[in-house]
Amino acid sequence: MDKRGMLLIVGAGIRTDSQLTREAEKAIVAADKVLFAAQDPWAVRVIRALRADAESLSYPHDGRPRRQIYEEMVERIVVEVLQGQKVCAVFYGHPGVLADAPHEAIRRVAGAGLVARMCPGVSFLDCLFADLGVDPVRQGCTVLEASDFLFRPRRLDPRVSLVLSQISQIGNSGVFDAEDHDRITRGLSLLSEVLCESWPGDHEAILYEASFMPGTPPRREPVAVRDLGSAAVSEVSSLWVPALPPPAVDRRRAARLGWPGAGRTAA
Ligand SMILES: C[S@@+](CC[C@H](N)C(=O)[O-])C[C@H]1O[C@@H](n2cnc3c(N)ncnc32)[C@H](O)[C@@H]1O
Repeated sequence: MDKRGMLLIVGAGIRTDSQLTREAEKAIVAADKVLFAAQDPWAVRVIRALRADAESLSYPHDGRPRRQIYEEMVERIVVEVLQGQKVCAVFYGHPGVLADAPHEAIRRVAGAGLVARMCPGVSFLDCLFADLGVDPVRQGCTVLEASDFLFRPRRLDPRVSLVLSQISQIGNSGVFDAEDHDRITRGLSLLSEVLCESWPGDHEAILYEASFMPGTPPRREPVAVRDLGSAAVSEVSSLWVPALPPPAVDRRRAARLGWPGAGRTAA
């Protein structure tokens, strides 16, 4: 009888030792084949402790564009599934957050009539809300990739918070290179300029990096948006731009429904 392959995509969390979900752990243990795309050695250690035979999806630093690297990952995953393997593919953070390869692998496997499913994981966003003590829903929160934010202008409301990811990768479709100071600085300077169109220059944003390792605190560094151009950033830096005070309650709308807080901020 033919063995039918299937695909489960799971997230390793950011701090894998404590953020790998029970669901992900079970999927890793039960799979015929485990493939992972995690570079942080702590995550690799946790995955390999569960499955010594887990194989790393390659992430070459040879000038290939990221798009091509992700396509190669997708092909590697899909080939295994089509050969009848029950594959668990592990991606860092939440596998569906700013990650094209997992979504595409699921589309292709499902398109071949096989079972393909994604399990949620703990993303950098979850860590950010916890580490910065902010509630994304209270005043609203826009989440965007930094290059996309800059190159596809949108109407921004500074009374809604903003999270920008990949702020060190602005204008770079290749793999991150920490030595590429000129591009990084030009990207951050443009970002600063555009943010200053919506927020006051002295508005305090926070450079954020969730900790990967037990016992290491997150990076939470305040920076005025006008000074972003000279900020020191890494491959995993994200930016939190808090909202300005909320708009006043529309008294007519509130009164129509007998809202008790008419005239105050909505609770
Ligand atoms: C390709 S995305 C992957 C996100 C990942 N799938 C997740 O769920 O967190 C990479 C971007 O996520 C953000 N990121 C990843 N790790 C982070 C960390 N430890 N702290 C803050 N932001 C992080 C950064 O903006 C980084 O450029």
